[in-house]
Amino acid sequence: MHVLHTPDDFYTLKKACLQNQTLALVPTMGALHDGHLALIRHAKTLCGFVVVSIFVNPLQFGENEDFAHYPRPLADDLAACNNLGVDAVFTPSTETLYPNKELPITRVCPPDHLTNRLCGLDRPGHFDGMATVVLKLLQIFQPSYAIFGEKDAQQLAIIRHMVHDFNLTVAIVGHPVVRDPSGLALSSRNQYLKTSEAKHLALLLYKTLLASQMAYQENLRNNNTDPPAAAPLLKTAYNTVYNQVMAEISQNTIEPGFAAGDCSKQVVLHYLEAVDAETCLPVEALRENTRLVMAATVFGVRLIDTLALS
Ligand code: PAF
Repeated sequence: MHVLHTPDDFYTLKKACLQNQTLALVPTMGALHDGHLALIRHAKTLCGFVVVSIFVNPLQFGENEDFAHYPRPLADDLAACNNLGVDAVFTPSTETLYPNKELPITRVCPPDHLTNRLCGLDRPGHFDGMATVVLKLLQIFQPSYAIFGEKDAQQLAIIRHMVHDFNLTVAIVGHPVVRDPSGLALSSRNQYLKTSEAKHLALLLYKTLLASQMAYQENLRNNNTDPPAAAPLLKTAYNTVYNQVMAEISQNTIEPGFAAGDCSKQVVLHYLEAVDAETCLPVEALRENTRLVMAATVFGVRLIDTLALS
């Protein structure tokens, strides 16, 4: 496996041995978990040469976010990539991708209608920074395919839009959410969920999405001709699941002195919405091709999850 630190490292490799190969790129910020590994496995089915980029991109973190503390287990990540037969890992330094500290760089500015909602409301500038680094990576590697997790549904929609607007020829591939056995969507930030209460409370997201899907399916079974309005159905599902989860935690308190009441202070729901599966734009009613998206901060950890209605 080649470990590349600069774009020039890649250009040299390309000249030497990559003339007629198609390339798939899996952009990551490292701290690889089974979700990333699923993206890599998928990339390997698409192309003869797979590059994984590992770069914690400062441009997409806000001032009060976890850039400094974001996990960076590079040795483990390299070993995981090697085990999966990744051809090259790109691990640039910040100075390599953003050499001039004194002068501002050209940034990609995705349109407001995509960024000024959902996660963009709480993370101003996040999607500009994300799109900027993704464009740089696509320019460096010129891949035939780039693979992203569907968990970041808004991110994926913004990348698709950018690729279309800039006439890039790369095919953007979305990969379904990978979950742990409890149903929690895998995320590098899950390691911040330290206690059993935090882990249990984090399931609020997936359980709410499942309950919403069940209510939607129930409506279909009842042969209602009108698709159900999204907002009330989602609100009811959230309230029901929230009460259930709080009750479960209070019955199973593991840490002495910890009550479900304390847990209620540990949940901030940022959004629970129905969106178009491709564009991530809001929809009023639930139909096929609708995706539910949700973000909540649980015990100080911002989590997102999503489910495509079926
Ligand atoms: O999803 C991520 O890990 C990041 O946003 C990405 C796409 C690698 C860009 O830094």
